[in-house]
Amino acid sequence: MSSERIATVQLGTGGPEVGVQGLGCMGMSFAYGPTDGDEARATLERALELGVTLYDTADVYGAGENEKFIAPFVAKHRDELVLATKFSLTVDPADPTKRIIRNDRAYLRQCIEDSLRRLEVDVIDLYYMHRRDVNVPIEETVGAMAELVAEGKVKHLGLSEVTASELRAAHTVHPIAAVQSEWSLFSRDIEQSVIPAAVELGVGLVPYSPLGRGFLTGSFVDARKELGDNDFRRQQPRFTGDNAAANAALLDPVRELAQARGATLGQIALAWVQQRAQVHGIAGVVPIPGTRKRVRVEENAAATHLVLTDSELALLEPIAARVAGDRYADMSFTSAGRA
Ligand SMILES: NC(=O)c1ccc[n+]([C@@H]2O[C@H](COP(=O)([O-])OP(=O)(O)OC[C@H]3O[C@@H](n4cnc5c(N)ncnc54)[C@H](OP(=O)(O)O)[C@@H]3O)[C@@H](O)[C@H]2O)c1
Repeated sequence: MSSERIATVQLGTGGPEVGVQGLGCMGMSFAYGPTDGDEARATLERALELGVTLYDTADVYGAGENEKFIAPFVAKHRDELVLATKFSLTVDPADPTKRIIRNDRAYLRQCIEDSLRRLEVDVIDLYYMHRRDVNVPIEETVGAMAELVAEGKVKHLGLSEVTASELRAAHTVHPIAAVQSEWSLFSRDIEQSVIPAAVELGVGLVPYSPLGRGFLTGSFVDARKELGDNDFRRQQPRFTGDNAAANAALLDPVRELAQARGATLGQIALAWVQQRAQVHGIAGVVPIPGTRKRVRVEENAAATHLVLTDSELALLEPIAARVAGDRYADMSFTSAGRA
């Protein structure tokens, strides 16, 4: 594998040109325990040097803190990167396990102004609806998002965790540049109907948690035993107790392949996403592994040069169907929960 700069791709018809791998910034302020700020800032810089140009955040990550955290980096490199953030999801301050979702225009108008202010920018390159509020027709939400494009506050629109029919309905109102959904060796729900719809409509795909929130790298097994009190993964059914033990055993073929190819488990997982995207014929796929460490962003970027053979892909094929436990404790907030 080479350590040269990563290739670029267009994210959806009419979407932005970006490096074939982006960077998930969430963990720098939210969900995965304490962060070394200096190392995280150095990671943002190192990613850019490697050709990683899509930076992913959301207003909910640390209640605005993640947007503020990356703002100085964004200011320094405004023309070199594509900035993506999201609205619609908040965590109830009284009970952080409770989520509130709003897709209405009034809330959107408030969120965009808050994100622009925290990010210290005039325009957001890719603005996603983070989660679907089924009480608001998606056409109405996307219509309100399209107003932001007309006003020059947003360049491209994206949707996260939508079903195929929601994507189709949205796309009739305004072109959608990207769908962001979980996609990995462990999470393949979207291959049923979301990916075929994205291919048909020319919508790009931004797989989130392509490393299975770190589990696919083999760095932890049981989240409740090994990770800190506030770590979100402690609430995810597949990472605790008997499920975690059973799921760790599913990594054996990944480990075997990693050894054979002189790669890490994480690199095999990332290469798998890129290659499954080719199998589906997706024009633009840009996974956004999240890391706060330079050495890991280097390792992850290098995986874009790793090509798995058909027989290697076949070895990994049965894994997802055997995973024990859901992606989230409450799946009603996901596209799979509404499909
Ligand atoms: N749209 C949505 O609903 C949604 C949901 C979740 C996430 N996201 C976005 O997607 C991004 C990525 O997802 P994610 O962060 O949940 O999961 P991920 O990318 O699958 O995994 C991230 C975890 O893996 C660790 N890691 C990264 N590279 C590694 C390596 N090479 N070796 C070992 N461990 C490694 C990270 O730890 P360190 O940070 O310590 O390296 C972190 O704990 C997020 O940052 C966020 O922007 C979106």
